[in-house]
Amino acid sequence: MSLTVLFAASNDDWQKYSAALKTAFADARLDVALVTQAEPETVDYIIYAPSCSLRDFGPYKNTKAVLSLWAGVEKIVTNETLTMPLARMVDPGMTQSMTEWVTGHVMRYHLGMDAHIVNPSQDWIWHSNPLAQERTVCILGLGELGTAAARSLLALNFNVSGWSRSAKAVEGVTCFHGAEGLTQALGTADIVVLLLPDTAETANTLNESTLALLPKGARILNPGRGPLIDDAALIDALDSGRIAHATLDVFRVEPLPVDHPFWAHPKVTVTPHIAAATRPVTSSVEIARNIRLCEDGQPMINLVDRARGY
Ligand code: NAP
Ligand code: GLV
Repeated sequence: MSLTVLFAASNDDWQKYSAALKTAFADARLDVALVTQAEPETVDYIIYAPSCSLRDFGPYKNTKAVLSLWAGVEKIVTNETLTMPLARMVDPGMTQSMTEWVTGHVMRYHLGMDAHIVNPSQDWIWHSNPLAQERTVCILGLGELGTAAARSLLALNFNVSGWSRSAKAVEGVTCFHGAEGLTQALGTADIVVLLLPDTAETANTLNESTLALLPKGARILNPGRGPLIDDAALIDALDSGRIAHATLDVFRVEPLPVDHPFWAHPKVTVTPHIAAATRPVTSSVEIARNIRLCEDGQPMINLVDRARGY
């Protein structure tokens, strides 16, 4: 039986994904009509990105699941018309990309690269860096992406700690959880990486009081979501010298407005939400796999818990 899969994303996304999805469906032995428009009651699955105009899922009465092209689902998780299962994106290509971004920016801080890359007065700036095992990187969020980044940093010998909502065990990582765990995790963190989802509970995880828990001169990487940090508190902490530098990939408003103080701040590096894009080929395989599971009557994977918000 043929399935109708509605691709609800931008035209740009259609150009990037349509061929890869068709190949992945065929490889998963799924007979699929992949369309960008359809009568709602004929749609079996929706592949969704917030770049499309679809907001009312009510008419999609026979749709078995919505599969997000994004890992972060904060833009649809509270949509009350979306009553069918919602799967978030877990994509090995995205995970590799995030691991590369985090590792690269940790190494920039660890090696003090900036002093040599931008050195117009040609100063002979000698310094001895600590070894990786003398540096603690703390990852807030030990999910798909945080755990992969932690493993990559462990392989480079960093001392790695992590924080999650529930108790976790990741070999080699000092794991903390809950409110008290955050205090402990931040207290020893030379570099903090935010890889939490954007939920009501994670808003302003780094604020005036939690920033004050960090050792003086700590650095921050935020490839998670903008609302995880209180922007004004971060700027105060950078200005006072408590935080030495921040590299931010995600913002409360994107693109980051031209007049936002982060752009001009000498202790902030802005990257334009590029840490880990979904990769069409690898993510299409995962989407097809999840639809195959559902068609076989098996539990789908990577389902979002609406109550938790991620
Ligand atoms: P995930 O697998 O769902 O992991 C989320 C982690 O955050 C889990 O360890 C979870 O704890 C923890 N967490 C959630 N709420 C918490 C709370 N209140 N207190 C403490 N820990 C909490 O998500 P993921 O796939 O790793 O992705 C993480 C986020 O990265 C996404 O939500 C998205 O916002 C962002 N992202 C950014 C980019 C980019 O290009 N910049 C790309 C992809 C994703 P438990 O383990 O206890 O559940
Ligand atoms: C990107 O930020 C994503 O959530 O996939």
